Amino acid sequence: MDLLIKNIGIMFDGYNFIKNTSIYIENGTIRSIGKNERAEEIIDAEKKFVMPGFIDSHTHIAFAGYRDFEIDWKINGLSYKEIAGKGGGIKYTVNETKKASKERIKKEMMKRAKEMFFHGTTTIEAKSGYGLDKKNEIKLLEAINEIDCKASIIPTFLAHAVPPEINADEYTDYVVNDILPAVAEKKLAKFADVFCEKGYFNVSQSKKILKAAQQHGMEAKIHADEFSCIGCSKLAAELKAKSADHLLMIDDDSINALKNAGVVATLLPATPFVLNEDYPNAKKMMNAGLKIALATDMNPNCYVGNMQFIIQLAVYKMKIPVIDALKGVTINAAKSLGIDAITGSIEIGKNADIIILNAPSPNFIPYHIGSNLVEKVIKNGIVYSE
Ligand code: NIG
Ligand code: FE
Repeated sequence: MDLLIKNIGIMFDGYNFIKNTSIYIENGTIRSIGKNERAEEIIDAEKKFVMPGFIDSHTHIAFAGYRDFEIDWKINGLSYKEIAGKGGGIKYTVNETKKASKERIKKEMMKRAKEMFFHGTTTIEAKSGYGLDKKNEIKLLEAINEIDCKASIIPTFLAHAVPPEINADEYTDYVVNDILPAVAEKKLAKFADVFCEKGYFNVSQSKKILKAAQQHGMEAKIHADEFSCIGCSKLAAELKAKSADHLLMIDDDSINALKNAGVVATLLPATPFVLNEDYPNAKKMMNAGLKIALATDMNPNCYVGNMQFIIQLAVYKMKIPVIDALKGVTINAAKSLGIDAITGSIEIGKNADIIILNAPSPNFIPYHIGSNLVEKVIKNGIVYSE
């Protein structure tokens, strides 16, 4: 099976823009660029913009329990923590998720993954975290591993919140002694993540969980410096985590620590968008030399699966140049997931994960707001359109 995408007007290959080019794909792999080879299947891109498929490197798509009822609270100025205190927040979704069968979770996730795929996302990282107890965390991770969808799925175990009936130190021990060994034994997660935050897990609890996860062969990610700066990014640096995510409150020392340790900074601008908060200081992080990835954070608080909207927020609200926003949703996201050797850019030898957009230029993605510009999604060399 081979495929030629010809007559590409502008292509972003993950690093640069290339004009008037073509891509030749054989058995799902990119074989040559810029040569008009003969092929069984030919797509005429009609001068449109072509780029690697989006990599959504931070999502919480495994849940039941929508929280649309929180909107009135949000627009009346209640904070994330105040909403949690009124019966919304993570705990609401945990209760609903516990009631749902694995089959129902899979069905809901598949619906979300399908929408994301046809908006251009060819790889989705998916976290557990709305189960809290062993049985329900395993249920979610099994659902994540078992779903049948066109995008590649990368599973992450997330220690997300402390259940009300137990204290944080005891729960940390339960995660370390009960949940993580079961996750590792069944090989259910590539990554482990912790919501390191006041009222959730402190730095030493987070460290305990992530070190144990690393001993089981999982790599670390951290929800860090979202509402307060208590040293979670520094912990990410110390543990050589693949990414530190959110970073709204990060300080200069922590930026340097992430830079020196080579940790990717994953920014999630849809979260401050729905919470009416300031955006992270992306410019400062970029100027310090940090690699920036951009992701949806799709979750019941922030229900968005469209990476084009994330690019729009990155450009207009965080003043990230378009080319850097595009790196953030492709190659840097791939680095944050340790999959940059196989995807995240259009390079010879990599998987053919490519999108063709109904756009004459890369700037059209932030420019043309509120519609889906993705016309064709190519995953491992197979062409899909909605
Ligand atoms: O990444 N910050 C922690 N966890 C999620 C939100 C989870 C929720 O509110 O349900 C996040 O934004
Ligand atoms: Fe998150």
